[in-house]
Amino acid sequence: MLRSNIEEHVKLVDSFGRNIDYIRISVTDRCNLRCVYCMPAKGVEYFDTAELMTFEEILLFIKAASELGIKKIRITGGEPLMRKELPWLIARIRQIPGIEDLSITTNGVYLEKDARSLADSGLDRVNISLDTMRPDRYKNITGGGGIDDVLRGIRAAEDAGLLPIKLNIVPLRGVNDDEIEDFARLSITTGYQVRFIELMPTRVNMAESTGKLSNVPISGMVSADEIKRYVEKIAPIYPVKLRRAGPARYYRFDGCEGVFGIISAVTCRFCQECNRLRLTAVGALKPCLYSDTQVDVKTMMRFGATKEEIKKLIIIGAELKPQRHNIEREVSLDAMSIIGG
Ligand code: GTP
Ligand code: 5AD
Ligand code: SF4
Repeated sequence: MLRSNIEEHVKLVDSFGRNIDYIRISVTDRCNLRCVYCMPAKGVEYFDTAELMTFEEILLFIKAASELGIKKIRITGGEPLMRKELPWLIARIRQIPGIEDLSITTNGVYLEKDARSLADSGLDRVNISLDTMRPDRYKNITGGGGIDDVLRGIRAAEDAGLLPIKLNIVPLRGVNDDEIEDFARLSITTGYQVRFIELMPTRVNMAESTGKLSNVPISGMVSADEIKRYVEKIAPIYPVKLRRAGPARYYRFDGCEGVFGIISAVTCRFCQECNRLRLTAVGALKPCLYSDTQVDVKTMMRFGATKEEIKKLIIIGAELKPQRHNIEREVSLDAMSIIGG
């Protein structure tokens, strides 16, 4: 499980030989938006603040993880910028030896205000959710959000050097799928890495009524193959191999530098390459996005677990990673806003 020799650094390897070096940490379940595919229009009940992991607990957890070979940390939410003093946390994480890649995933609404201090604190880069470029549509999809805030946030992130900027788009049939080509063109005209994500069913977005996802039918998922077909209307596309591509498959147009990606979270399993664990906002270590199995790290910490004991919990988390998700049978218990995507 934990491999090490004198030349090699410590490596966390799961039961299927996958090297686990990435942890996604949700710092809050709260969000200022209500994206149709994520939250019901009436919102979800939030946890009490006392239930959230404290920054000290998160830092101890990351210290333990880094000593097991975790190199990449992504801070998520809810909306992570809703957590007060996030730059303080980023600066402390930056000081932890072994963390080579430190990023956040945000809806970008507060980014204009925070980009500079996040960059100054040592954040490497940001991924930003943007499902449409049309103000009225943005309002509808996000339950009232203002797109201008996000566009200013993206520019502020660029100015602050939080690069590469990745834009996440969840195409929904009949809602924003007519913008797939426009978004793909953005990868040519800007340096942004546009990524199209297949809509994933969750218990929260499926809960409104059977088969309905808020006001979008679940049949609204646009598959990776369909996304490709939309994009190919512009020009032929070619696969590109990127280092640390994560769950995305990247492509480019002939003669163009920019790349765009497709995250086929549902139709094509990238589980054999999975390198990650997740810590939810309330301190549960999740071996897989699509599994109810979890390790209650927070409770153990609040009973006084030491760093060495936390390391053991992380090793157990890695051991519990399934070979592959079973999205057809098992739908994730929690909202994405708790797990952090
Ligand atoms: P990069 O390091 O920039 O590639 O980050 P990322 O793509 O891992 O992070 P981001 O938060 O931008 O996630 C993009 C989408 O990929 C989200 O919708 C995630 O839910 C989805 N995703 C990330 N990891 C997994 C995974 O292990 N399984 C599945 N099914 N989806 C995932
Ligand atoms: N399916 C696909 N992507 C989702 N996200 C949130 N919920 C879902 C879902 N049900 C995306 C957000 C964000 C990323 C972390 O996850 O748009 O970009
Ligand atoms: Fe939208 Fe992300 Fe907020 Fe969910 S957590 S409502 S996807 S911005």
